[in-house]
Amino acid sequence: MGAATDTQPSGGLPEHVAANRAYWDAYAPQWVESGERQWRLAPGAETWGIFGFPEPEIRMLPDDLAGKDAIELGCGTGYVSAWMARRGARVVGIDNSAAQLETAARLQREHGLAFTLLHGDAERVPYPDGSFDFAISEYGAVLWADPEVWVPEAARLLRPGGRLHVLTNSVLYHLCAPDDEREPATDRLLRPQFGMGRTVWPGEAAVEFHPSHGGWIRQFTSAGLEVVELLEPQARPGLVSRHLPGGSAWATKWPVEEIWKVRKRT
Ligand SMILES: C[S@@+](CC[C@H](N)C(=O)[O-])C[C@H]1O[C@@H](n2cnc3c(N)ncnc32)[C@H](O)[C@@H]1O
Repeated sequence: MGAATDTQPSGGLPEHVAANRAYWDAYAPQWVESGERQWRLAPGAETWGIFGFPEPEIRMLPDDLAGKDAIELGCGTGYVSAWMARRGARVVGIDNSAAQLETAARLQREHGLAFTLLHGDAERVPYPDGSFDFAISEYGAVLWADPEVWVPEAARLLRPGGRLHVLTNSVLYHLCAPDDEREPATDRLLRPQFGMGRTVWPGEAAVEFHPSHGGWIRQFTSAGLEVVELLEPQARPGLVSRHLPGGSAWATKWPVEEIWKVRKRT
């Protein structure tokens, strides 16, 4: 199925989900080009995060996706979903932004690849318990949805033994990132870790979620998920990213991103 199905009118949404929907609908045009580029990557050549960590290094995708049910929570332009579909998975991509999903649907048509796109909130996914073998989020629900709600929801959707893999900003980067996103991070802590879970940047309405490591472990274990791995990949020198002013210098010393791999208890 290529068309996005609207599961949730804006009226009934929690405040942060409505704010993030408006934000992402307005921001979507700036994600078209990177989405198009990522859609073109072939199996084995997928890259992740702001510096393009190669899939063989960080193994965000399980080897055995063929024939499995997979869901991407906050799929944006849908490239991760496309990668999973190319690896033979039956894929659902859910996203809160109709504008992001329009790009995803166009790219499906252009690449001749079909999977289900749902317009909705990853905190409330309209699928029965145990529908999926694998769930993933790269800067999607993991950053923009409330972990108190979306983590138990992801656990509900997984079958026993099913995996959830997420990639988001590192805790340390969040503590060091200046309020002005055009400024590079330094070696100074700029905000307290206690109470940092929910973040609204100055002048913005969008809401981000940045649990501490202890917070993530508490969320996962209380939802019946066991931690398999926490990866903090190191960037190579000299890389540039529009998402990190100053290039990769900071990220060669400290992790700018982190990856949690967790499994539903059997
Ligand atoms: C940065 S994109 C992630 C997609 C892609 N991996 C990327 O990095 O471009 C963030 C996406 O999360 C979506 N999102 C935010 N809150 C969400 C929610 N509660 N449920 C589903 N998607 C959500 C946004 O609409 C946006 O498309």
